[in-house]
Amino acid sequence: MKFFSALAIICLATTAVAVPTGKRSTPPFPLPDGFPNPSDAQVIQIQQAAFGTLPNGPPPSNISTDGLTNLKLIALNELFEVAFFNELVQNVTNRVHGYDLRAGHEYALATLKAVVAQEELHALNANGALKKFGQEPIQPCQYDFPVSSFREAIALAATFTDVVLGTLQDVNQVFAKNGDDGLVRAVSSVIGNEAEQEGFYRTLLKKRPSSQPFLTTSARDFAFTAIQSFILPGSCPNINTIPLKTFKPLNVLTEHIQPASQNLQFSFAKADASTTDASALNIVYINQQNAPIVMSLQNAYEQDEQIVFQAPFPFQEFEMNGLTIAAVTKGAGPFANADVVANATLFGPGLIEIY
Ligand SMILES: *[C@@H]1O[C@H](CO)[C@@H](O)[C@H](O)[C@H]1NC(C)=O
Ligand SMILES: *[C@@H]1O[C@H](CO)[C@@H](O)[C@H](O)[C@H]1NC(C)=O
Ligand SMILES: *[C@@H]1O[C@H](CO)[C@@H](O)[C@H](O)[C@H]1NC(C)=O
Repeated sequence: MKFFSALAIICLATTAVAVPTGKRSTPPFPLPDGFPNPSDAQVIQIQQAAFGTLPNGPPPSNISTDGLTNLKLIALNELFEVAFFNELVQNVTNRVHGYDLRAGHEYALATLKAVVAQEELHALNANGALKKFGQEPIQPCQYDFPVSSFREAIALAATFTDVVLGTLQDVNQVFAKNGDDGLVRAVSSVIGNEAEQEGFYRTLLKKRPSSQPFLTTSARDFAFTAIQSFILPGSCPNINTIPLKTFKPLNVLTEHIQPASQNLQFSFAKADASTTDASALNIVYINQQNAPIVMSLQNAYEQDEQIVFQAPFPFQEFEMNGLTIAAVTKGAGPFANADVVANATLFGPGLIEIY
């Protein structure tokens, strides 16, 4: 009850209009606790801040090549999350304009500090396993987050955490397919942790904590591309060791998308398109555990070096709540699942969040 009213106050107190600020790009690492290369004593400190420990058993004795790619993607993602939530904690601590939470301050700050430490352990666990398998650990990059208020930061966290929740399904699927069953249990425990976080962010946004009965799935290439949109180009020392695909951007132009069937507007850069023949392309929506939905591009036209188009979004028919991943594909499928969509994707992922 006490927590709930603290949350309600945070919701109310953060409606202040965000003021755009000049962006800086201070590399956040290493953190004061030594992350990403903490000493043994610092690891104990991080574990206390995280309210738990790294798994203390060894990783499996062998791993597939695709399993290694999973660990690399997890490390890249967790490093990005540590950078984001560390900066968010700084902003809230310093009551930066747009981040003054008044009555909810202590509870939100304590929660976010635990999140930072928990994400640090997720990253250390993945990079530790990579080292154990004789691989280079993934190193942090420099980041730039397109937010300047607490509400915007939480909305962004809710969106990228949803992408993670979908992608870790793909990670487990890939582990299963390649005989890496020894890694599935720990990753599943991380899915639960990230989902607990998601419920907190959704509550702050005044949404019900649990979005859908079966969360939206994703594919590794979509997450790999989405993470890079927060990375300063050229700032990652060894992202090139991750053999995943980076797609060209797909912009979702319609804002404040309501829970109703409607046409949505999208765009992509003309320079990125090998064809301007819209009939050769399709837009595909991935939502929940359903077969990907394929639509044609409509009313395509060129404006400011962009190809702008519309496509129907069949919300009612499929109850498309929570996250939808949109991708422009070559060909109309049918696509059996998210991995097959990613294989045919040219532009994406467009991230759509409905209540
Ligand atoms: C790892 O080794 C075990 C036992 O030899 C084998 O059953 C499993 O398929 C191997 N896994 C991979 C990913 O190679
Ligand atoms: C922290 O605040 C600065 C200044 O408003 C902003 O540029 C940055 O994006 C914020 N970061 C997060 C994670 O909220
Ligand atoms: C990926 O796409 C190529 C053609 O672009 C096709 O030949 C191949 O079968 C596809 N693979 C999967 C797994 O869908």
